[in-house]
Amino acid sequence: MNTQILEQMESEVRTYSRSFPTVFTKAQNAYLFTEDGKRYIDFLAGAGVLNYGHNHPVLKKALIDYISSDGIIHGLDMWTAAKRDFLEALDEVILKPRGLDYKVHFPGPTGTNAIEAAIRLARKISGRHNIVSFTNGFHGVTMGALATTGNAKFRDAAGLPAQGAQFVPFDGYMGEGIDTVAYLDKLLKDSSSGLDRPAAVLVETVQGEGGINPAPSNGCNVSMHCAENTRSC
Ligand SMILES: Cc1ncc(COP(=O)(O)O)c(C=O)c1O
Repeated sequence: MNTQILEQMESEVRTYSRSFPTVFTKAQNAYLFTEDGKRYIDFLAGAGVLNYGHNHPVLKKALIDYISSDGIIHGLDMWTAAKRDFLEALDEVILKPRGLDYKVHFPGPTGTNAIEAAIRLARKISGRHNIVSFTNGFHGVTMGALATTGNAKFRDAAGLPAQGAQFVPFDGYMGEGIDTVAYLDKLLKDSSSGLDRPAAVLVETVQGEGGINPAPSNGCNVSMHCAENTRSC
């Protein structure tokens, strides 16, 4: 397997390829195939975004049909028929049935773009600056998102101090039996806690980069503490 050009020319900031030093040529459903013929189950799945697997036939056909008809791929933020179709479908299938009166913002294509947009919107609407983020959180590597990312290695690589976020423990971080949601409640309610009132609280429902840490679905993993709290668990 020839990796020489990859080793030589690709930026040193790459991380995943160092952990998987093999060259992939093909992807189908849950599988990735290497050029020397090995098949792997792709548990990484685009860091969780490939909900339909790789190259799902229905999605693949829609994509090929669209490109074959010279559909617009790059329209900046102009109105296109594709955008109109998407918004109509989103409204009909997702929003209306749930009574949600939402506006849609199309950020750039990456996760960190979505986080930046959300952070700016929250700051603009609330008039506050602070973002509450969690230990082991990862939200991307642009400046705003980096400030909310726990890992010091990523934050240090920015070359500037990461600002505008304060960290609190994610569920389980303090060990079993410690209700970290109650801790956050207390900090938020106490003006002497040192936690600035936040514009937003940024939660990964399942932490990925920081280890696979699912947040509890009922808001609390600690039944003993839940009984004492006002939250219904
Ligand atoms: C939870 C989470 N948020 C945001 C991001 C950033 O996404 P992207 O790498 O597409 O900018 C990632 C990337 O791994 C992520 O895992």
